[in-house]
Amino acid sequence: MRTFTKLVLASVGLVFIAVKWSAPTFDPESLKGVRVLVTGASTGIGEQVAEKCLSLGAQKALYISADMSSDSDPDLVVSFALDQLGGLDHLILNHIGPSPFSMWDGDVAHIRWIMKMAWRSLPALEQSGGSLVVVSSLLGKMPSPFVAPYSSTKFALNGFFGSLQHELAMKKSNVSLSICTLGLIDTDNAMEKVKGKTEVPAYPASEAALNVVIAGATRQPEVFYPWFTYIISVVKDWCPCITNYSIRNSYSYEP
Ligand SMILES: NC(=O)c1ccc[n+]([C@@H]2O[C@H](COP(=O)([O-])OP(=O)(O)OC[C@H]3O[C@@H](n4cnc5c(N)ncnc54)[C@H](OP(=O)(O)O)[C@@H]3O)[C@@H](O)[C@H]2O)c1
Ligand SMILES: *[C@@H]1O[C@H](CO)[C@@H](O)[C@H](O)[C@H]1NC(C)=O
Ligand SMILES: *[C@@H]1O[C@H](CO)[C@@H](O)[C@H](O)[C@H]1NC(C)=O
Repeated sequence: MRTFTKLVLASVGLVFIAVKWSAPTFDPESLKGVRVLVTGASTGIGEQVAEKCLSLGAQKALYISADMSSDSDPDLVVSFALDQLGGLDHLILNHIGPSPFSMWDGDVAHIRWIMKMAWRSLPALEQSGGSLVVVSSLLGKMPSPFVAPYSSTKFALNGFFGSLQHELAMKKSNVSLSICTLGLIDTDNAMEKVKGKTEVPAYPASEAALNVVIAGATRQPEVFYPWFTYIISVVKDWCPCITNYSIRNSYSYEP
């Protein structure tokens, strides 16, 4: 049994290395003069993504405050960006809505609005042969307690954009679509939410941001950070009772 486990782990490791090796290499020069729109850039990973793009030579940063849950704001944001930048090369969908870390309280109004920006931006991205990057989460591949509304938006994102990825490929579109699967990242808001509730390690937001930027620049369909989120995505369904046991025991909760 022990040899079997080792063999399984070794083969997963090899697959991972092979995937990494075959990934296109990132040329920092590729961001020079690029027109980027990042949503949710006021703080956290989005702020760092915007800073990274600027330091790598992307065009100026513009700030506009908007509420993506309103009907009209996504349109306003895209028009503002197109007016100010004269087009769009990368759209990075990073913003989130209110996402409490607690047992589900009946909030259902959370799922619909992330796709709007993508729809509204696609024509501009087609003009430039640009990249659309979606910041998603391991919780969009594997449900976990305390994050029912959040997990549902991330599953919806993965389903929606996974479907769109097929469509763009079938249409031989020149727009690339990247889905980023992130593990727990040490942004202030995330750390505040999970404080005292889990021992799961958090990884630096600057590294997460760099992976998001690279995903768009190298036009990779999927990016995982930290690396083991890939392994978890692959093996989680092999022994559901072990996966369930580990998830339920990663959180402290007294009924
Ligand atoms: N941190 C993690 O552990 C982690 C793990 C996996 C995936 N992710 C994903 O990474 C992305 C960024 O997460 P983060 O930790 O950096 O979050 P964060 O620090 O809480 O920042 C969230 C950003 O979204 C914006 N936002 C929230 N509600 C909005 C609304 N209704 N309309 C427009 N913007 C809104 C916020 O702007 P305001 O401040 O103006 O509200 C803020 O700029 C999210 O998609 C998240 O799901 C994070
Ligand atoms: C990308 O494809 C669209 C639709 O086919 C086309 O209109 C556009 O000119 C192309 N853009 C580039 C940069 O090739
Ligand atoms: C693991 O949990 C999921 C979600 O609650 C459930 O659908 C599945 O049946 C569980 N599997 C086992 C083996 O406990």
